Amino acid sequence: MPGGQPDPLILSKHGQIGASVPRVDGPLKVRGAAPFAAEFALDGMVYAALKFSTVPKGRIASLETTQAEAAPGVVAVMTHRNAPRMAPMPMFMTAEKAGGSDELPIMQDDRIYWNGQPVAVVVAETQEQADYAVSLIRATYESDAAITSFATAKRKGTEPALFMGQPLKVEKGSADAAFKASAAKVDETYTTPRHNHNAIEPHAATVTWDGDRLIVHDASQAVSHTAWSLGQVFGIAEDQVRVTSPFVGGGFGGKCLWQHQVLGAAASKLAGRPVRIALSREGVYRLIGGRTLTEQRVALGADPDGRFNAIIHTGAVAMSNHSVMPEPFILPTMSSYGSPNIKLDVQVARLDMLANTFMRAPGESVGTFALESAIDELAVALGMDPVELRILNQPDEDPLKGTPFSSRHIAEAWRAGAERFGWSKRNPTAASVRDGEWLVGTGCATATYPYHRMPGGAARITLTRDGAAKVEVAAHEMGMGTATAHTQVVAERLGLTRDQVSFAYGDSLMPGVVLAGGSQQTASIGASVIAAHHVLIAELLKLAGNDSPLAGLGADEVGTVNGGLAKLDDPSRHESYVSILTRSGRDHVAVEGSASAPLETQHWSMHSFGALFCEVGVNSVTGEVRVRRFLGSYDCGRILNPKTAASQFRGGIIMGLGLALMEETQLDDRNGRVMNPSFGDYHVPVHLDVPAIDVIWTDIPDPRAPMGARGIGEIGITGVGAAVANAVFNATGKRVRDLPVTLDKLL
Ligand code: MOS
Repeated sequence: MPGGQPDPLILSKHGQIGASVPRVDGPLKVRGAAPFAAEFALDGMVYAALKFSTVPKGRIASLETTQAEAAPGVVAVMTHRNAPRMAPMPMFMTAEKAGGSDELPIMQDDRIYWNGQPVAVVVAETQEQADYAVSLIRATYESDAAITSFATAKRKGTEPALFMGQPLKVEKGSADAAFKASAAKVDETYTTPRHNHNAIEPHAATVTWDGDRLIVHDASQAVSHTAWSLGQVFGIAEDQVRVTSPFVGGGFGGKCLWQHQVLGAAASKLAGRPVRIALSREGVYRLIGGRTLTEQRVALGADPDGRFNAIIHTGAVAMSNHSVMPEPFILPTMSSYGSPNIKLDVQVARLDMLANTFMRAPGESVGTFALESAIDELAVALGMDPVELRILNQPDEDPLKGTPFSSRHIAEAWRAGAERFGWSKRNPTAASVRDGEWLVGTGCATATYPYHRMPGGAARITLTRDGAAKVEVAAHEMGMGTATAHTQVVAERLGLTRDQVSFAYGDSLMPGVVLAGGSQQTASIGASVIAAHHVLIAELLKLAGNDSPLAGLGADEVGTVNGGLAKLDDPSRHESYVSILTRSGRDHVAVEGSASAPLETQHWSMHSFGALFCEVGVNSVTGEVRVRRFLGSYDCGRILNPKTAASQFRGGIIMGLGLALMEETQLDDRNGRVMNPSFGDYHVPVHLDVPAIDVIWTDIPDPRAPMGARGIGEIGITGVGAAVANAVFNATGKRVRDLPVTLDKLL
């Protein structure tokens, strides 16, 4: 099956795919019956609290823990002096199952690598006792010279970025010369700040040892990666580690393996007790990296009719010395528009800071702010409609690789969105519409995110004699509707009702190495279930034997219809699962299948798209920006469940409104300390900041993606920063090129 074309079986119509099914985990959550990582209660469990360093680099000079050790309820105080010996975490993408966010030997010696690094863990009988005891620990440091400001780091010199082993540097044609010769030009610098992960559920793990077996109840988007990596850290086999993650209160790229799981496991080993380590909101800011800052130049050169001659997108990002994430802001520019001349380059400036990491649509979120703002500026310079300028510059094939697109219906998405939003009624002249003291404007931008499917997918299907099926995949439900959508997919595929299907996930003992990241989990699970389904059919035909109406048929000649198998072109030859299992005297049949290699992305350029429309009001007295209307019109392949999909799009857009208008992690340039580690100081959108968000989609299946679906987890946040900033320009005539668009930049 080169290219991952969907097999004909999924085209059977049982009415499951595309149905607006409510969340299967909804009732559990509403009843409080869904256990999250910090809600597992284990016998003899103790509670952990962390002491954080206050310098960015150096050594611990003194660490006074006697008072803490003597405090009520304290069971152990772990520092570099008594922590178990551990290997560093294998950093993400350095091996198939590596899931660590840095590779630092924390608490193995007296060294400090970032401001906020844990220097001690207290475990006590209650959380309050642990928190109090931590406050009694005194630490002093010998500081080393540290690089904690982006300006200093850039002066020291930058290096070319590497992302997943590939350089983030591409040149096609002669972009500089073509840009110079262009009739219409824009050449500007756009900056975006650091962002912090703020999932509604702060990071937590409940950890216990059973001899040499480690069990971690985690909040994770990578249970298999985490299990293998923890095995490496503690020098035990992968199958001696079990990581569960039945429910996760949001991930967004932040819920992989960080030091708290490692320290929790180490403290549990030291104390000989199960440990619950639940980070405070401040703890999340100190221990869990976020999106790093970017400084991007976008230069666009065009003919007088608006056709692009040159696209230049270059710049620098801050990056930790210990991270794999150079915030690849050029990613959207690699496939969004056609141009004979393209130059892209990301440079990295290294800082002594907490590992920066993946955060929803890394690259695209902030890259689209720069690119899509610049396109708006070019449209103004040309006197062209920005929707028409974007449609005019659509490429016929991948602009860099030359491969065909698997499915690209962005022009339809633009037309449908413009119609629904009422774009034709827009006044293109900036600062010309008033509503009382509010200046009103509209803007648009392209959203985009690639289709991915990582290797390693696998699934187990167990069919029981009562005709029910259980599917197990080491996958994750972070609140996006995975369990619901895949209950539908499996029901459709096996010809069962949803009540007959259970989808089990969130346990590293299950098959598959499946990351809930890169918006690819749905494709990965889908391909895994397809593979297991093929094995299941072959197994069922064997069991059916010569007395079956299916006798003599090969696995490729039958499909599943209404609780059984039937010959594809002759449904009268049919036998139910119940009959096959009963006749063969079996209680159940269990099979495993591994997903095909993800070859589709080698043959086709696979991307999702969206056309975004935004209306803002900007207060002429205070500069306050209010988003009044927002519409996302998407082209993401087949939509499996409109209800959960609409939520994914809306959630992404809301996160994008935060990126556009308020989110900013403030690092003190002098010492690299996060200065706003709380919701009081780090602002995210609340209900009053969010208007009713309209979402529509093309629902055109992608013939190259399993189930025809390209994934929708991350595209929602992309383009939103530019759509808002472009609307602010239309409202006020002021171009803000530095996120977030706060009122001080508009007065
Ligand atoms: Mo996402 S940043 O791949 O969870």
